[in-house]
Amino acid sequence: MVHKTREKCRDFVAKYCAGYDASHDISHIDRVVTNAVRILALSDDNTKKIVREDVIIAIASLHDSFDHKYLTTPEQVEKAKSAVRAFLVGELKFKDETIDMMFDVIDNMGFTSEMKGNSDKSTMSSETLEYMHIVQDADRLDAIGAVGVARCLAFTGAFGRPIMTESGEEERKQREMFQSGQLTANGRKGPSAIAHFYDKLVFLKDMLKTPAGRQLGEKRHKFILSFLDEFFDEVN
Ligand code: ADP
Ligand code: NI
Repeated sequence: MVHKTREKCRDFVAKYCAGYDASHDISHIDRVVTNAVRILALSDDNTKKIVREDVIIAIASLHDSFDHKYLTTPEQVEKAKSAVRAFLVGELKFKDETIDMMFDVIDNMGFTSEMKGNSDKSTMSSETLEYMHIVQDADRLDAIGAVGVARCLAFTGAFGRPIMTESGEEERKQREMFQSGQLTANGRKGPSAIAHFYDKLVFLKDMLKTPAGRQLGEKRHKFILSFLDEFFDEVN
């Protein structure tokens, strides 16, 4: 049954992802679904009692289907949401209240949302939070490690941005501040791929919420730090 859910969701989202660049393609979705299923499997019995695996798979599969980065107008976002709802009702027979919960998770799980303080809203039930934390961690794990480096560079290329600014001044300053513990995540949107590491990627490890996610994030975090060490060693 869960296998069918995964297959149906994959077929549905593949259409959307086809228009996205390599940082948010169907392989990203496949990896996030796999991470989410893995985190759920490693969760305690209490979480397993509350969280439905088919719903986790559906949220993980659909989490980028109405992404503001790729859909620029509110009308496009609403249209995509209607299509997702029609799919969830028609193909998966999900109830409206389950879909509302899923949309609440998807709308609030992003890094930017958390920076604005919109995440972990007091209005969210503990059940909704369980769902959000699992999919959020699954998505964040895919933003760090070797895959995270690859995705950051793919995004950078697709949006015509530089790997590092010409002088590298900003990035060197960020690196110094990070190393002396003075850099904080503040939602800044810097000018290059390397700036993005210090705007966001280096902070994700401490923003992982589930015990399994935190455990899986350790090695990936270390990898991005050694990538940055190597990068600066080579350009300095
Ligand atoms: P979230 O859904 O957590 O808000 P995004 O969808 O904005 O995250 O970003 C997902 C991934 O896309 C990032 O981890 C990174 O790999 C890439 N990305 C997003 N914005 C940038 C950027 N400005 N520069 C480089 N990579 C980026
Ligand atoms: Ni994602």
